[in-house]
Amino acid sequence: MNLTTRQSRIFEAVAELGSITRAAEALHLTQPAVSMQIRKLEDEAGMPLIETHGRRIRLTDAGEEMLKYCRRINRTLREASAVFERLRDLGHGHLDIAVASTVNYFATELIARFHRRYPDIQIRMDVTNRETLLRMLEEYERDIVLMGQPPDSEDLEAVPFMDNPLEVIAAADHPLAGKRRIPMKRLVEEPFVLRECGSGTRMALEKFFSRKGVKLSAHMEMNSNEAIKQAVMAGLGLGVVSRHTVRMELESGKLVVLDVAGFPIRRKWYLVHRRDRRLSRAAEEFKRYLLEYVSEAA
Ligand code: PGA
Repeated sequence: MNLTTRQSRIFEAVAELGSITRAAEALHLTQPAVSMQIRKLEDEAGMPLIETHGRRIRLTDAGEEMLKYCRRINRTLREASAVFERLRDLGHGHLDIAVASTVNYFATELIARFHRRYPDIQIRMDVTNRETLLRMLEEYERDIVLMGQPPDSEDLEAVPFMDNPLEVIAAADHPLAGKRRIPMKRLVEEPFVLRECGSGTRMALEKFFSRKGVKLSAHMEMNSNEAIKQAVMAGLGLGVVSRHTVRMELESGKLVVLDVAGFPIRRKWYLVHRRDRRLSRAAEEFKRYLLEYVSEAA
């Protein structure tokens, strides 16, 4: 049977409105155009589908059958176009983000809430250090990056969204634990366990100490916040990490924050994307959601 989607729509309208004239008006067509499509449909069916009673029309038995199929076809098409509209609206439902290693401590909670709101959006999240994040932005590899202060650049749009205080941490039984107003110079005598070069945390603390004229002595390097926490707990030295990374250890008393003059180093988290990369709908939605989430939490 050769039935067009146009005929299917026209037939449903005629059946529902009970009139060729009213169906023509509703579909913004002329009355002869509607009558002609109905006739074509009757030719295809090989029998009359409507009967005229004065100005009203009534469906024949074959017309009732035809109406069931037309309704089904029209409903399926409406469903299909709604699905594609949603996919188009959500930029094919993909969100590609990358976050600084340190952001990972709260990013999963953020993403979980976003996912509950938009379960159809597929999410890919990379966790890596600052240096790699900047390279990803440079090479248009991700929609959105969550990181510490990005470099000043015309190419980047950066929106601060949360405080990121860096603290000096120590094992609970460290001799400096519980001391008040420890002078910064006193830190020179202590071994440190620091993040790798290329990490934003490392960059920030080096800048901070060099501005204050303090040079840290011996230090070990580790490329994850988890490894640093373990090393500090094991008594290998002091660490400098974002407060977000040690919430649980502080609560359980395994680590302490030292009261060092001049600390915490005050930083912020930024949502960053390239200005010349058009955000997908999913990415736009994530940006809107993140800013709304932090303003609610504030
Ligand atoms: P990082 O980034 O995980 O590379 O240290 C955190 C930051 O920039 O503060």
